[in-house]
Amino acid sequence: MCGIIGYCGPRDVVPLLIAGLKRMEYRGYDSAGIAVNDGSLRIVKDAGKVSNLEQLVRDAAVKGHSGIGHTRWATHGAPNQVNAHPHTDESASIALAHNGIIENYSSLRQELIRSGHTFVSDTDTETIAHLIEELYEGDLPHAVQKALRLIRGTYGLAIVSRHHPGMVIAARMGSPMVIGHGHGENFVASDPAAFLSMTREATYLEDGEMAVLTPDKVEYRTLSDEPIDKKLEQITYDIAAIEKGGFAHFMLKEICEQPQTVADSMRGRLLIEEGAVKFGGMAQAKEILSEAKRVIFLGCGTSWHAGLVGEYLFEELAGIPVEVEYSSEFRYRSPILEPGTIVFAISQSGETADTLAAIREAKRHGAPVFGICNVVGSAIARETDAGVFLHAGPEIGVASTKAFTSQITVLFMLALQMGRSRRVGAGRGRELVQQLKDIPQKISRILASREKIETIAHRYRDSNNFLYLGRGLNFPVALEGALKLKEISYVHAEGYPAAEMKHGPIALIDRDMPVVFIATHDGTYEKVISNIEEVRARGGRVLAIATEGDTEIVKRVDEVVYVPETDALLTPLLTVVPLQLLAYYMAVHRGCDVDQPRNLAKSVTVE
Ligand code: G6P
Repeated sequence: MCGIIGYCGPRDVVPLLIAGLKRMEYRGYDSAGIAVNDGSLRIVKDAGKVSNLEQLVRDAAVKGHSGIGHTRWATHGAPNQVNAHPHTDESASIALAHNGIIENYSSLRQELIRSGHTFVSDTDTETIAHLIEELYEGDLPHAVQKALRLIRGTYGLAIVSRHHPGMVIAARMGSPMVIGHGHGENFVASDPAAFLSMTREATYLEDGEMAVLTPDKVEYRTLSDEPIDKKLEQITYDIAAIEKGGFAHFMLKEICEQPQTVADSMRGRLLIEEGAVKFGGMAQAKEILSEAKRVIFLGCGTSWHAGLVGEYLFEELAGIPVEVEYSSEFRYRSPILEPGTIVFAISQSGETADTLAAIREAKRHGAPVFGICNVVGSAIARETDAGVFLHAGPEIGVASTKAFTSQITVLFMLALQMGRSRRVGAGRGRELVQQLKDIPQKISRILASREKIETIAHRYRDSNNFLYLGRGLNFPVALEGALKLKEISYVHAEGYPAAEMKHGPIALIDRDMPVVFIATHDGTYEKVISNIEEVRARGGRVLAIATEGDTEIVKRVDEVVYVPETDALLTPLLTVVPLQLLAYYMAVHRGCDVDQPRNLAKSVTVE
């Protein structure tokens, strides 16, 4: 979603802000801007890409040593030049960049208008700039504190004032902000990727905290002006992990990384001899897990799909009833969380606002809540009682790929761990652990058929509707395959359980609606083949994902992509890979912007 970068120090701030914004482009945005503060504020902003902003800044010959930058994903007001951040008060003495939503902006704005302020944009953010200016009496940090005490909603903020050159103020309520400490220079960003090439020493702001940055020091305070002691942390991930490394797009790089990332998710956690699993992060929750009577998975988007796969795994291996809830729905229901119910929140970013709110709701009902997150130090990782990290490395492509396979890997291991103390014997446990260990090299084999999948995508690139069908564990994979195609190719696609086709979607079948079947060898194979026949009988075209060695299926379908054989419970880790590649190549051949699909955001920090 929106990205913020801020800097004070000796460097030329403009290229630094532009580079920081480029590092955060993957999060999704529709306009971008910077404010440079050297005693006067110079603001350049516009709708469109950072490269467009870069040109505008060059034309305007803006220079300076402190400033802020922002990429905006529109919530209030259209994505245009006026609504782009940074926003200022009318005397242009304060400029700020904001992530989040101010809920009471309308009443604040009315009051400010009554006191003589004139607004130019449709945004909630502009209100904050006017409010700070209204309350300013010569001390910027105090004015910010007073203003933020009046605000309801969520924010990550970076603020500068022409009265305080060289100072940048950052504040957080529900939207991540990280402070980078350098030598004689300091940084602030909503995502450490923005300054990682310059410093790895950082602190994460908590809700209700602010930081006052000058080149020589950073002071941390609460909104009531109490000083806070923050410990510096080292950001450990490798810069190469946030670069494309020779791939045309981050999405392709991340799809191809999966043999490694799936292996990383299981590293150090498999007990081969015992046929079991151990998780450092769940050690103190052992008893809660072994006594659990019911499990609820919370998530959004791809993470919700992973939860659906988890449902099958937990029911099969641990014999525990499972519910999978959209976080956004869970929080507004009256959830029944009796003792023995445990909750897992699944989130790649660990920042998704709906999931965070759902966690708080579950905790309010007294349920133990565990996180399955990728981003270490994220809000969800910090707010859950314990959890398991994916260790998949930074995921930059907006369409989630490697996080999905790592989520399933972790869910499989959790289900096995809970199953081993219930209904899975050591022999079956060993078999499953071994099969899981073999998954990375099987994914590599699928990746080797990339070219074939590209050819198929090229052939079908003009189709505007797709149906994805699968059964059992591969039903959520059908949903995920359809979501990938929608997200990056803007092709309408729907996922269904294969047997449900006859209850509606069959009416849509014709030559213009290709159907992707996941038809691997498992208990429902014969039934899926019957569904394939039903499509063929109506003139439909079929693309099948089938198990290696299934030469029969070739006679019944138009295209087939093979995945290696594995235990039926592990097939989603393989069947999703060709679907990711199909979506990727369809998008490429339709000329779409794969890594920054329109209207989407990588991490959705608003409700
Ligand atoms: C956004 C992203 C999706 C992601 C979803 C949940 O919609 O575009 O790719 O699956 O958020 O994100 P999370 O970080 O909580 O997994």
